[in-house]
Amino acid sequence: MQERLKQILEESKKQLQEAVSVADAEDVRVKVLGKKGQLTEILRSMGQLAPEERKELGQAANQVRSEVEKMLDETFENLKSKAREAKFKAEKIDVTEPGKFYKLGTKHPVTITIEEISRVFKSMGFTLTEGPEVETVFNNFDALNAGPNHPARDWTDTFYVNDDVLLRTQTSPVQVRTLMNQKPPIRVFAPGRCFRCDTPDATHSPMFHQVEGLVVDEGITMADLKGVLDSFAKQMFGPEARTKFRPHHFPFTEPSAEMDVSCFKCGGKGCKVCKGSGWIEILGCGMVHPNVLKVGGIDTEKYTGFAFGMGVERIAMLKYGIDDIRLLYENDMRFIEQFK
Ligand code: DAH
Repeated sequence: MQERLKQILEESKKQLQEAVSVADAEDVRVKVLGKKGQLTEILRSMGQLAPEERKELGQAANQVRSEVEKMLDETFENLKSKAREAKFKAEKIDVTEPGKFYKLGTKHPVTITIEEISRVFKSMGFTLTEGPEVETVFNNFDALNAGPNHPARDWTDTFYVNDDVLLRTQTSPVQVRTLMNQKPPIRVFAPGRCFRCDTPDATHSPMFHQVEGLVVDEGITMADLKGVLDSFAKQMFGPEARTKFRPHHFPFTEPSAEMDVSCFKCGGKGCKVCKGSGWIEILGCGMVHPNVLKVGGIDTEKYTGFAFGMGVERIAMLKYGIDDIRLLYENDMRFIEQFK
């Protein structure tokens, strides 16, 4: 028996020395000290021995057990720290390696232009408002006094969703929504996307942006329209900018006009940007047609108003010297980055 104990101790020692993983060491523990382990068996079988022998062997077995336990503790500790070291080594990061490079975006020139236009109108007491891009035919045409035979209604110009719903072709339907929901005095501006069934070329895009404006109050005249829009031009293009108004036609205004700004490139002398004329057309405007005010239930004897609408892309292109509208929608960072 004593021999057997010695042998167990030696074997355990050897196996633990050779153990390369925690699992190896655990195998040894189970083999020697487990429920059916070699040492456990010996201790169990001692009941049959004479008391003297039992004492002697018990002591020796306990001695072996505590030695094996001690060796196991050491081996476990050792293997765990080795595993930890290996893990650290595998997880080592090279802090000198260059990181992933994320390019920071910049504001789109259309966004910059809308923000600038908004800043000017806010400074004049206008409130920002918005309408949906998917509109009713009624708000986009009928309520804006565009008769049933108006050419813009033709399917070639308008994306129709169905007979009553379309993608708005202008921001003017926001006027209708405003008139239906607010009482005068009204002073709002509304930037947003518009859609027209145009084939893209250097100056046309099926999606573009407009900023609409509407003022309704007692005693509003064409002089207010001219004052506000002239002030807008000076704040937007510089104090030296001059404006002129040419008669025009829109179904929702009477009288209607287009406003030209003195060319901000040449100051009016004539250049490539203004095509030699010295003037650049930037918006449509007019006194709100009584038929439009009536849609909103507004007393046309008491109230008058003016409205205007401008194309954002056109202003951005003129301001930044962009000669093709398609550049605005290609999302080429080399282009976009230039307008910080
Ligand atoms: N909605 C017009 C267009 O898309 C622009 C416009 C002209 C808006 C005159 C107005 C206005 O509010 O009074 O061409």
